[in-house]
This record gives sequence, structure tokens and C-alpha cells, in this order.
Amino acid sequence: PDTLAITLELNGQSRQLEVEPWVTLLDLLRDRLGLTGTKKGCGHGQCGACTVLLDGKRINACLTLAVMHDGCRLTTIEGLARGDELHPMQAAFVRHDAFQCGYCTPGQICSAVGLALEKHAGSRDEIREQMSGNLCRCGAYPNILAAIEEALP
Ligand code: FES
Repeated sequence: PDTLAITLELNGQSRQLEVEPWVTLLDLLRDRLGLTGTKKGCGHGQCGACTVLLDGKRINACLTLAVMHDGCRLTTIEGLARGDELHPMQAAFVRHDAFQCGYCTPGQICSAVGLALEKHAGSRDEIREQMSGNLCRCGAYPNILAAIEEALP
């Protein structure tokens, strides 16, 4: 068969999907499922715009095939808010004006949420190091850092 059956827990909902084995997780999210909050910047693991949370850990969705994640729990930027209430990290990005064009923002926020879950948030230098896989071409780094520092538990 051309497709494989996989099940994902996607933003809290179980999804049964038929996926060709060559489709990346990023293309599945954007092109098949319409979850375009996750961005494609470079398509080869260099910019971090495609960062999502897989079982609570950060992953570049452009670098991995969807069929490798059967049974996994996936959270995208669309899954962070609770109803009308933004996730604390999203709210902090708004408060600190931590974006300009906004293209990298979903990846930045998912990465920052993952950083907290992975308990990598110690010093300011550690946050910088941990966020170094997420590029911002507008150079909004000082505000991004301020937002993350404020929102970390
Ligand atoms: Fe995945 Fe750039 S699009 S790292």
C-alpha cells in the first residue's frame, strides 16, 4: 500500500490518519491537517520555525517523517491556549512585544514551552543556549528572552 495507518494524539484529540511514508510531520500538519500555525522556514532543520512538542519534547517537524510517530502525543501552537485563555508563554510574548513579523513566533513559543517542560531553564545564558535553534530574522531576541524569563515557572 502507498499509505500507512497512524494514530496521533494531536492537541488533545485522537486522530487516525493514512499517511504516505515520505510525508514529513511538518507537511502533514500544514498541508493535510490545515494546522498552518507551524511554519516552514528552511525545511532542513536550521531555523526552528517548525518546532512542535512531541511527547512534551521539542522537535523540528521538518526533519522527521510523520509515520515514525504512531501513538505519540503532539502539541502544536494551536493546542497551547485553553479556550480564550492564552498559554502563559503566549501571553508573555504579547506583553513583551516579543515578535516583529511573527513568522518565527509559533516555533519560538513551542520551543520555550518545551524548554520549561524539559527543565532546561536555569540562567539567562542557559535559556539563550536552549533557544539557539530558533532563529528570528527581525532580531527580536531581547524581547523574546524577556518574555521567556517572565513566563518560566
Ligand atoms: Fe524546520 Fe527550519 S523549517 S528547522
